Amino acid sequence: MSLLELDSVVKHYAGAGETVRAVEEVSLSVREGEMIAVHGPSGSGKTTLLLLIATLLTPDRGSIRYRGRALSSLSEAATSEYLRRDVGFVYQSFQLMPRVSALENASLKLLLDGVGPRKARDRARPWLERLGLGERMNHTPEQLSGGERQRVAIARALVGDPKLILADEPTGNLDSKRSLETVELLLHIAHEQGASVVLVTHDTDAAALADRDYTLRDGRLVEGRRRDTERESARSQPLPVS
Ligand SMILES: Nc1ncnc2c1ncn2[C@@H]1O[C@H](COP(=O)(O)OP(=O)(O)OP(=O)(O)O)[C@@H](O)[C@H]1O
Ligand SMILES: [Mg+2]
Repeated sequence: MSLLELDSVVKHYAGAGETVRAVEEVSLSVREGEMIAVHGPSGSGKTTLLLLIATLLTPDRGSIRYRGRALSSLSEAATSEYLRRDVGFVYQSFQLMPRVSALENASLKLLLDGVGPRKARDRARPWLERLGLGERMNHTPEQLSGGERQRVAIARALVGDPKLILADEPTGNLDSKRSLETVELLLHIAHEQGASVVLVTHDTDAAALADRDYTLRDGRLVEGRRRDTERESARSQPLPVS
């Protein structure tokens, strides 16, 4: 079953003089337990697409359905619950709270959800450890490197076991080893915990690990690749003669 379905979604930004066609007739579905990747050049509409799915922007046209329900039909309370409970968003610019520790940053969503501070920290700690930040939990964002901040932002999105993970360039500041480990962690969460992941990335190696891989160009989703199909066709190729 599709957890998320986009049907002919359009989002334009009205600028001074010219309109930017950020997302143009995008249709897409993501199943439970699946990770899809969307890659494309800078300015192709990737962040806009994630913000639309997260209800942080409203489409001009088209529909976005979550568990079969149009997001546009949800009440204000249901919309904020969707964003708080169902969605885990890794922001491209991290959006960490300044001057509070990595642990408090990672606990934030649970605190907003009414979980007590001690319990919230107990649930956040293992995610920070998994992301290699066991020694950095009490550091504030100002005391962390770019890659460490990025991993705090990932931990914060994963705490609370969201059903839908929207990750905007989550490996942009990581070295290739950490980058691979992070994408594998997201894939594991999809496959083992049944979450759906939309991974936005410039990194074609990272995108290649996803179950399906789309390219976004000038707001249009231009091609899709299915990992299984590719494997099937690779298997059916005749062996090279040496
Ligand atoms: N608030 C806004 N107002 C006007 N134009 C915007 C706004 N946000 C984004 N845009 C424009 O919309 C287009 C898509 O932007 P978006 O941020 O979605 O791209 P992106 O693929 O995420 O790029 P990057 O890889 O650099 O993060 C760009 O041309 C951008 O300049
Ligand atoms: Mg972006």
